[in-house]
Amino acid sequence: MWLNGQLVDADQAKLPIDDHGLVVGDGAFETLKTSGGRAFAVTRHLSRLRRTLDALAIDMPNEDILRSAIADTVIAGGHRESRIRLTVTAGSGSLGSAMPQGQPSVVVAVTDLKPLVAPLAITVPWTRNERGATAGLKTTSYAENVRALRVAHQAGASEAIFANTRDELCEGTGTNIFVVIQGETFTPPLTSGCLAGVSRDLLLEASASCITERDLPFDVLKTANEIFLTSTTRDVQGLTRIDDRVLPVGPVTQRLAAVFDEILLANDP
Ligand SMILES: Cc1ncc(COP(=O)(O)O)c(C=O)c1O
Repeated sequence: MWLNGQLVDADQAKLPIDDHGLVVGDGAFETLKTSGGRAFAVTRHLSRLRRTLDALAIDMPNEDILRSAIADTVIAGGHRESRIRLTVTAGSGSLGSAMPQGQPSVVVAVTDLKPLVAPLAITVPWTRNERGATAGLKTTSYAENVRALRVAHQAGASEAIFANTRDELCEGTGTNIFVVIQGETFTPPLTSGCLAGVSRDLLLEASASCITERDLPFDVLKTANEIFLTSTTRDVQGLTRIDDRVLPVGPVTQRLAAVFDEILLANDP
């Protein structure tokens, strides 16, 4: 892994115990992957990292250094395809919520990119707060997602889907969601409180004429003809079950999955 400027063995890596990422989850992260052995869509991930860090008032590390750190860590990891985790925290210096004044901590870690998880999801009763201070940001405060995902796993599913506080469809713990209704494809707008997923953006840009961003009632999940998720690790993944409802991976999802496969061939789309 790579920590604050150098490659280190994971068992040698050290962060101070008052690092604000550990103390209060004050940090930003990105999950990237390799495609064809090279880190995919790095420019988009770094832009989103900068947006999250700006909102948290944490300095964005030098982008060239981050790019080299990602490339070096991927090579050192030696996996055929890698999942890459880039984390920047507010750094050391405070045991409370007041922001520390020091340098951010920067970590790049890789693991093997695991095969796709089962396309089964549940809905959960907790909401995303579209008006929250961290709405739409990819912060390291992910306990809400951890809790919801655990419930999904206990139910034999691989993802949990949230409504927002207006009872509109929002997103999954680590995915964006799309529904197909009578051949038309819709996804919640960013004002729903969902993350601006890199995969979501790429798909929307490639298929602008056939996907509409629209507020959708949460119970659209009970009637939509097709439902699919997007994320860095799932690409476009058609759901075959949501709660007790079994549904097909239909023609629209299949077509958009093929569109996404093409996007994956570009290195930094
Ligand atoms: C809350 C949330 N929504 C959506 C996504 C999908 O984003 P991306 O396509 O950039 O992986 C993620 C990614 O981890 C996420 O954490």
